Amino acid sequence: MSLLSVKNIVSGYGSMEVLHGLNVEVEEKKIVAILGPNGAGKTTLLRTIFGVITPRKGNIIFKDTDISGTHPERMAKMGICYVPQEGNIFPTLTVQENLEMGAFIRQDDWHNRMEEVFEFFPSLTDRRQSSAGELSGGMRQMLAIGRALMVNPELLLLDEPSTGLAPVLVDQIFERIAALNKQGVTVVLVEQNAQALNAADKAYIIEGGENKAEGKADELMKNEEIGKHYMGR
Ligand SMILES: Nc1ncnc2c1ncn2[C@@H]1O[C@H](COP(=O)(O)OP(=O)(O)OP(=O)(O)O)[C@@H](O)[C@H]1O
Ligand SMILES: [Mg+2]
Repeated sequence: MSLLSVKNIVSGYGSMEVLHGLNVEVEEKKIVAILGPNGAGKTTLLRTIFGVITPRKGNIIFKDTDISGTHPERMAKMGICYVPQEGNIFPTLTVQENLEMGAFIRQDDWHNRMEEVFEFFPSLTDRRQSSAGELSGGMRQMLAIGRALMVNPELLLLDEPSTGLAPVLVDQIFERIAALNKQGVTVVLVEQNAQALNAADKAYIIEGGENKAEGKADELMKNEEIGKHYMGR
């Protein structure tokens, strides 16, 4: 069963239409990669799913409910979290304060959850009191994901978590995303890096705001034509 269905979404900014009827199905407890070149509309898709932008046409269905245009804060309360491509941490706050900010919509006691997040990203534990702005790129991404995890999301929307990271850190971040998924978190992983296919179950390739290809991640990886056109092979 799909946890999230994106149906025929038309979306954009002002007079500019960016997504021209996009479709994505995300099954429960899977990792779905969305790949596409610069300007394909990947970020616009995540913003539209999360309610930062209201779609002009189409529907976003989460657990059989139409959530199109629901306010982001309400989305987070429903179990959907979004880690944006940029500006996803508070650089002047400490690592721990960033995690506390992640819990702001929770009314229950979240302190145990914070310790679980530190266990999940042990390298953050040593930097607990450092300001987030001093962290390396890889640790910033882990902190950004950790902040989203503070509300125990069921569905995590990640926008290019591997961008700008050294290869060894790219491997680490994908490994942590796979580990999260094993704990039961469903993930939509937007990437330009085709390595995301190694972590994903299913993948979509989008370009020019339209669906170009979709399939099982391992099959897309083997497809020569797709590799050549969309993954720079
Ligand atoms: N806030 C905005 N206002 C107007 N146009 C925008 C805005 N954000 C993005 N666009 C335009 O929408 C199109 C799709 O952009 P989007 O950021 O969704 O692409 P993307 O696939 O995420 O690219 P990248 O891989 O570079 O992050 C581009 O033509 C871009 O210039
Ligand atoms: Mg983007």
